[in-house]
Amino acid sequence: METNQETHQPKRIYLKDYQAPAFSINQVQLHFNLSESQTRVKAKIEFKKLTEAPLVLNGENLKLISVRLNEKILSTNEYSVSDKSLTLHQVPSEFWLETEVEINPEANKSCEGLYLSAGIFATQCEAESFRKITYFLDRPDVMTTYTVEIEADKIKYPYLLSNGDLISKKDLGNGRHTSTWKDPFKKPSYLFALVAGDMGVIEDSFTTKSGKKVKLEVFAPHGKQARCYHAMESLKKSMKWDEERFGLEYDLNQFMIVSIDDFNMGAMENKGLNIFNSRLVLADPQSATDRDFDLIEAVVGHEYFHNWSGNRVTCRNWFELSLKEGLTVFRDQEFTANLHSRSVERIKAVDALRGSQFAEDAGPNAHPVRPESCLSVDNFYTPTIYEKGSEVIRMMQTIVGRKGFRTGIDEYFKKHDGHAVTILDFADSISKPNNIDFTQFKLWYSQSGTPTVKVTESYDASKKEYTLTLVQSYPLTEKQPHKNPFHIPLLIGLLDSKGKDIKLNCKDLAFNSDQMPILHLKTNQQTFVFTEVAEKPVLSINRQFSAPIKLEWNASQAELLHLIKFDSDEFNRREAAYKMILEELKRLVQAARSGKPMQVRDTLVEALGFVISDKSIDPNFKALMLQLPDEEVLAQEEDVLDAEAFHKAYSEIYASLVKKYQSQLFDLYQKHLVIDNSADRALTSSLLTILVQGQAENATTLAYKQYTSAKNMTDKLAALRELCQTESLETQQALESFFNEWKSDAVVFNKWLQVQANSRSQKTFANVKRLSQTAPFSFDTPNNIYSLLSVFGDNYLAMSDSSGETYKWMCDQILRIDTKNPQVAARVCGCFNFVKKLPTNLKEKAQNEIRRVLASTSLSRNARELLEGNV
Ligand code: BES
Ligand code: ZN
Repeated sequence: METNQETHQPKRIYLKDYQAPAFSINQVQLHFNLSESQTRVKAKIEFKKLTEAPLVLNGENLKLISVRLNEKILSTNEYSVSDKSLTLHQVPSEFWLETEVEINPEANKSCEGLYLSAGIFATQCEAESFRKITYFLDRPDVMTTYTVEIEADKIKYPYLLSNGDLISKKDLGNGRHTSTWKDPFKKPSYLFALVAGDMGVIEDSFTTKSGKKVKLEVFAPHGKQARCYHAMESLKKSMKWDEERFGLEYDLNQFMIVSIDDFNMGAMENKGLNIFNSRLVLADPQSATDRDFDLIEAVVGHEYFHNWSGNRVTCRNWFELSLKEGLTVFRDQEFTANLHSRSVERIKAVDALRGSQFAEDAGPNAHPVRPESCLSVDNFYTPTIYEKGSEVIRMMQTIVGRKGFRTGIDEYFKKHDGHAVTILDFADSISKPNNIDFTQFKLWYSQSGTPTVKVTESYDASKKEYTLTLVQSYPLTEKQPHKNPFHIPLLIGLLDSKGKDIKLNCKDLAFNSDQMPILHLKTNQQTFVFTEVAEKPVLSINRQFSAPIKLEWNASQAELLHLIKFDSDEFNRREAAYKMILEELKRLVQAARSGKPMQVRDTLVEALGFVISDKSIDPNFKALMLQLPDEEVLAQEEDVLDAEAFHKAYSEIYASLVKKYQSQLFDLYQKHLVIDNSADRALTSSLLTILVQGQAENATTLAYKQYTSAKNMTDKLAALRELCQTESLETQQALESFFNEWKSDAVVFNKWLQVQANSRSQKTFANVKRLSQTAPFSFDTPNNIYSLLSVFGDNYLAMSDSSGETYKWMCDQILRIDTKNPQVAARVCGCFNFVKKLPTNLKEKAQNEIRRVLASTSLSRNARELLEGNV
């Protein structure tokens, strides 16, 4: 590891140090001779010198066999090799370089570079792992065309896949065969991929808008083909949607998706050869939940959309990651919204943003959407880069309107096709054709932290004037002690006493090209006066969550109920319920902490009663209205993370609903349980949560009955999850039957781990320890680690342990995982982000354990960077 000589701390990398590459590459030809433990990789690269400098190629864990320059073998004194690079000091202005290296895929447990997963060779190169395959200028701003020849055993590896189009196949006659692939589009090395194995496949095709027939294939283990059709349908929908919404057409003659069991991330957009974590490909109603189906559609879309936003136009360097990820998340969210209910999707996206990104922005790892420095680029894959990055793009669309946004997007792809560019290039593409100045708006890219907007209102009945004052504030941090006001676009409406939107008259109100009313908050404080307002209105602001901010607004319970009943903006209708519940949770937590009696306010119970009984609310939407905010959201509102008080507060709300509406809840549950539709399943699952956690009569029996009679995984898992919140005989029976049914299924087994790690039972820690030592759980399988360790780590109640044993155990596991797979270890570290908020006795114990991890000199920079801020 590169370290600072004096402090032994790993060196930080800075955006400001960016330098353009000294060489360009005209083309590369790769030859792979695959073997499990001794794969040979030959690379023939055509270089062109751009500025006078030595040629320094990245390379890690490579055994160098030979180097040739313009066909002449170099002797060892003509180059130098370190554990990170190969350097040639004297090179001509144009030349071919040929290297041969040997690598060991079998010994590689990091799931990066070339590795083996269940007998299949697979690669993962983003962000900087192509250098673990061969010596190269492994940086996204070096783009070139690739020709790849793969040789392997014919029986063990009948399919030999790489990027682009298959151009030839040969049988070598000695039990081995080859395939050659050519990708005509220039790409950075992180998009390289290779897969070799014996797999099942389903095939289909898509005809693009210009009439080209594209061959589509989804590969999965033999016998799992029947679970690939949903991914295939999602792919065809994605291809069609991108043509219709953004005019973007697919560019190669074939597109492949491969499902792999051991994969660090969700999925990867390698050109023409997407590689997916099997949990995001394989689905049928028996093995996957409705949520899995939705997620697969979104992720297939996401990776497909990268073909333009990421592959054809890529990032200049990794600090610009949001250029491709923020934009592609925005695109996949729009895709999902167009295919399903826009408001339901918006609510789910905002829930996720609040649970993870707002927490990150308020914690020790807060960083801007375009970060300025880092220890490890692997750690850039954060909710801020992804989800906040998407929010920033959505705000651009809100400001310029959909039509103007499309004009900007067209300009962006036309101008930058085939290049590696920056976030600021993107912002210019949107602002310039629309004649809008984004100078202030671009602070969203450089300033971290979630802004708060404080709302004060007054109404003057004699003048019929309604006055709204908005004050913005933003958290200052050690890294960013000075900040400037953001440009915050707020969609707005005012409701009359009948619940109808009133006509807005305000000289400072703007309308975008979609005729949506917007208040542009640009200074620290602004006042907006609305005239001809006949009666005191009810405010509905930040409709559709137009800006990713926190709203500080003392709405009365009556106003919130009015919004719940009438707001024409469905997002804010649900937001009112969410706000009411969150405020109640906070009140109850305070009561629990000070030992006062806990009593849920009638206003909340009545508001939720209205939701339960209103027959006009669609079941999907009703399910969301009845869902309590995540603990991660509550934790952000509290100074102390008192898990027991949290738990009591949630239980109290559930119990108050059961007390007042038990029979109604039960009837509604029965009514929707028999309807075979995902919206109805979403509602029954929300209702089952209320019934079980509110301790309704016979709720455990009800859950067990749902478990045993379920005809699909959605109902089955919802029941099992609730059963795990109780300690009953039924819980044991259900867990055992689930295990017997699914223990040899690499995807479904994870669900069994998750429900147990998620249990609030006192036995959870003991269970988790035992499960981690019992096959088929394996520390080599990232999905197993996430399902058991990460889920347990996020379980506040089970983790808070006055003996400190949970923190010690977690830290031991992090150290153990880190030696094999630093990326996965770093993700598990995320569970310590709340440590500074723990009650003092727990905090000290947890921090001592974290310090112990940090003291390990062999700790990866990935894990180090994530833990550092927590002590
Ligand atoms: N490019 C990423 C995958 C990736 C991230 C590979 C980091 C290597 C390191 C891919 O496009 C992606 O963003 N995947 C997400 C899912 C997506 C739907 C947000 C993931 O893997 O979680
Ligand atoms: Zn992505």
